[in-house]
Amino acid sequence: MLRQRITLTQFLIEERRRFPQASGSFNSLVLSVALACKVLSTKVAYGSLMGLHGAVGETNVQGEAQQKLDVLANETFLHCLEWGGHVRGMLSEEMEDPWLAESADGEYLIAFDPLDGSSNIDVNVSVGSIFSILRAPGEGRRAVAGDFLQPGTRQVAAGYAIYGPATMFVLSVGRGTHGFTLDPEIGEFLLTHPDMKVPAETKEFAINASNSRFWEAPVRRYVEECLAGSTGPRGRDFNMRWIASMVAEAHRILTRGGVFLYPRDTKDPGKAGRLRLLYEANPVGMLMEQAGGRASTGMGPMLEVEPTAPHQRIGLVFGSRSEVERIERYHAEPVPEPDSDTPLFNLRGLFRPGSN
Ligand code: F6P
Repeated sequence: MLRQRITLTQFLIEERRRFPQASGSFNSLVLSVALACKVLSTKVAYGSLMGLHGAVGETNVQGEAQQKLDVLANETFLHCLEWGGHVRGMLSEEMEDPWLAESADGEYLIAFDPLDGSSNIDVNVSVGSIFSILRAPGEGRRAVAGDFLQPGTRQVAAGYAIYGPATMFVLSVGRGTHGFTLDPEIGEFLLTHPDMKVPAETKEFAINASNSRFWEAPVRRYVEECLAGSTGPRGRDFNMRWIASMVAEAHRILTRGGVFLYPRDTKDPGKAGRLRLLYEANPVGMLMEQAGGRASTGMGPMLEVEPTAPHQRIGLVFGSRSEVERIERYHAEPVPEPDSDTPLFNLRGLFRPGSN
């Protein structure tokens, strides 16, 4: 196996040759993330054998029920990353305040969701870890929480691990998006999916349709047209998927195309969306764009959004470029409210329009 494939470490060394002045700190940081993901891959694979299933009975900073594995995943990330001294700060979905190093030595900041899609743990469906790496701003000073508020265009690297039938580590350091599969015998990630590309066209969309009554008109129009299939304006049939694990959804789209929507909606006016900008939308955005896809708020490029808060939520659309651009176009065009003759949205239809 090793004769045919390069390891993640070898890949990072090759990439580093482009930056003769690099200290090795960045590579060490990525390898620490990969180590945390290997640890979690093992824990997830034990299923309920280690007593790690179920909720801890607490809610996290997002108001979501924390699973035992969420807590373990967070501790694993903190432990693996703190040791190396390469990070000046860590922002996690599981912690209200970021962890800030005592010293100013670390060159990087990392934001992560250590276990994304954790409602899937107990039902044995794929979950993942997702992260975004930024440069720590300000020479010679400790990090502050505000340092994380950088747009996604400033990401140095982004990636995720997916704990599925096989464990994979998907990474971009700004030159394409590359997939590595964990060889459990040797404990190494091997490059199996170099230069992943999101097909520009697709016939597959992913959205939580139970929220349809809260959607804004452009999203309703898009989904209605997909559902109308070959009898509607798109002139072809579409497939729908929803795993409720964004990392797994992103992985499917990187592999065979598609579009994912968790749009801004009116379900909870206090929330601008469901997913988090700094450790979900931005890293997935970088991975998609580096693979020729697109990531958007629905209105414009995700990676250009200026963050305002560490745990900020946002509407997120990503995947095949032409579909994401179509959704942006629908947001830009004035859209007539669906009328009662529209079969999919009338009173007996599958997706009724909201009263908003
Ligand atoms: O972290 C949020 C998350 O678990 C994503 O991975 C997933 O896409 C989404 O929530 C699922 O949300 P819902 O339960 O509303 O379908």
